[in-house]
Amino acid sequence: MKKIKVGIIGVGGISEVHIAGYLRNPNVELYAFCDINEQRLKEKGEKYGITRLFTDKNEMLKLKEIDAVSVCTWNCAHAECTIAALKAGKHVLCEKPMALNAEEAEAMQKAAEESGKLLEIGFVRRFGNDCEIVKDFIDSGFFGDIYYARAMYTRRHGCPGGWFSDKKRSGGGPLIDLGVHVIDLVRYLAGCPRPVSVYGVTFDKLGNRPDVKMAPGSWLAADAGNTSDVEDFATALIRFDNGFTVSIEASFDQNLPGEGTINLLGTKAGASLSPDLKMYTVMNGYLADVQLDMPTALGFEGLFEKEIDHFVDCIVNGTKCIAPAEDGVILMKILTAIYESARTGHEVLIK
Ligand SMILES: NC(=O)c1ccc[n+]([C@@H]2O[C@H](COP(=O)([O-])OP(=O)(O)OC[C@H]3O[C@@H](n4cnc5c(N)ncnc54)[C@H](O)[C@@H]3O)[C@@H](O)[C@H]2O)c1
Repeated sequence: MKKIKVGIIGVGGISEVHIAGYLRNPNVELYAFCDINEQRLKEKGEKYGITRLFTDKNEMLKLKEIDAVSVCTWNCAHAECTIAALKAGKHVLCEKPMALNAEEAEAMQKAAEESGKLLEIGFVRRFGNDCEIVKDFIDSGFFGDIYYARAMYTRRHGCPGGWFSDKKRSGGGPLIDLGVHVIDLVRYLAGCPRPVSVYGVTFDKLGNRPDVKMAPGSWLAADAGNTSDVEDFATALIRFDNGFTVSIEASFDQNLPGEGTINLLGTKAGASLSPDLKMYTVMNGYLADVQLDMPTALGFEGLFEKEIDHFVDCIVNGTKCIAPAEDGVILMKILTAIYESARTGHEVLIK
């Protein structure tokens, strides 16, 4: 069978896991790299033996034989790179967050519809082992009606610096970078209801705190001195059309330990996903805690590979995409509305 040829736009940190996923997929030939950083591009080319190297995405996209691309750039380039790739007739896997805002995301979805090509969004938590198990229980009706979720992705001191804290390139701070993962996860588990309103608050109280002394070799050390114009803490209440409600917290910096709490409340059972999956229900009239006899903590081993395999499977076999552009647009509507609510101090309705 003919292998699909894949190009990567943006060969920084996260491209490593995309590349690893493509390299182990028997239906893929890793074909070309693009990055505006010439030095990095050269190094990545040498590392993976890729000789088709481009500093301009449009030059790479002229290669007719390329079937698909991963967009792994800073958030500010997701829309322009994705739209250019779709217009050039390529399928696209675009990293999260889909774009800087809802308007850009809608333009990307339109480009995908017009081109007839696939646009998958990198909602990698949907491919987590914990998510798959909980979804299995949800689909069997174990939880009953899921009406509330608490989603937290907080770091005590964890702004990566660089473009992550430069609003022009990131679109925002921990809400758009970390919150997007957990809002999408709980919405997906609740059956992808439509959001109707948000009330959000953001804080810029601590900044990057470059003076905080970190353990030697900390992953933050390199960029921690950069200035920040993004929020360092965000919280919101998100309401959906079926009554489902999500409370979210995301931070880069806070004077509390970081947390990855994901709690779901259903009428028949509840679940806590982090660090291990535990379910809480009533059995035979008794309150009962359910712990499965298998590893249930989110494992990063194979996580991105599953996302990449799914993208390739959708292209090669026409499998229905489980992380489509329309969900990316909905997430961007939620995030844009939270920032708007934080700015105005009012609830924001989502159409
Ligand atoms: N799914 C996840 O868990 C996860 C984790 C980390 C990052 N990400 C996402 O991946 C994306 C990249 O993050 P990163 O940590 O790899 O950043 P990075 O800075 O390490 O890499 C981004 C690369 O994109 C390049 N770039 C920027 N604009 C470009 C353009 N117009 N054309 C070509 N190249 C361009 C930069 O030069 C850089 O080399 C972000 O959207 C981020 O949110 C996702």
